[in-house]
Amino acid sequence: MDIVVFGAGSLGSLVGGVLARDHDVTLVARKPHARAVRESGLRLEGVDEDGPTRVFPTATTDGTELEADLAVVTVKSFDTASAATALATGSVDAVLSLQNGMGNEATLASRLDVPILAGTATYGAILREPGVVECTGHGDIVLGDRAGGQSALAARVGDAFAVSGLETTVADDMPRRLWAKLAVNAGINPVTALTATENGAILAEPANDLARAATRETARIARACDVSLSNREALAEMEAVAEATAANTSSMSQDVLAGRRTEIDAINGYVVDRAADHSLEVPTNRTLATLVETWERGRDLR
Ligand code: PAF
Repeated sequence: MDIVVFGAGSLGSLVGGVLARDHDVTLVARKPHARAVRESGLRLEGVDEDGPTRVFPTATTDGTELEADLAVVTVKSFDTASAATALATGSVDAVLSLQNGMGNEATLASRLDVPILAGTATYGAILREPGVVECTGHGDIVLGDRAGGQSALAARVGDAFAVSGLETTVADDMPRRLWAKLAVNAGINPVTALTATENGAILAEPANDLARAATRETARIARACDVSLSNREALAEMEAVAEATAANTSSMSQDVLAGRRTEIDAINGYVVDRAADHSLEVPTNRTLATLVETWERGRDLR
């Protein structure tokens, strides 16, 4: 398969690098990373038991005029619209969003007239330096039609991922899975970002209460949007992820520590917006979103 990975940060580089073992992969990356990959290939650490390996995908900084069977979009949610605009100048047959937060698939679909798949990824990855990505946690990828249901395209993409050794499940209930992931992120991400703690911190009081409240509210809004997600399921999943990734720094906490814009709008902000659509109150999500947004405004990040 010809695959473009749009947004070769840590997850994009890991997924793109592993796929490059069996497919023609083009990474759309920032300048230093693209240059390093062009000059020496991409070093994959922590992927194979036998030690680091090197793959040689194509690397570019220009996301326009690209042709591929599939574009895997891994950019931050606030860059989804510009990724879609760039992809629209080329010719890709299908798009898979592997991003945090909600609303990415709708943004892609509004600008691209091709099938859009939704996906979640639980692999841990760190871009150690330009040209070097480390897998810090072997997780999995779940993908499927963004509206749910069976999809021959999703099955084909799932096979292509599995051939390269990515643990992949093709699912027919992506809307529910995306909401369940949102409920996890709504609890863990802002609380760890605002307190500069690792994910495990939300398992102890007083952070636990706050994270649970955000997750519970998110599950309630999922149900208001006709997605079956009980409080019990959402809370169990949030705490299971916090336990499994206790020593990890969440993506939002990493963003705040690095002084970067966060994905708060597509996580807690999304819950606040959907709650408003249904005239419901989500005070915890509203407070967490306001605090992170205020931090971003104080640094001119939005
Ligand atoms: O955004 C993240 O960091 C991850 O989605 C998660 C699951 C919270 C683990 O760190």
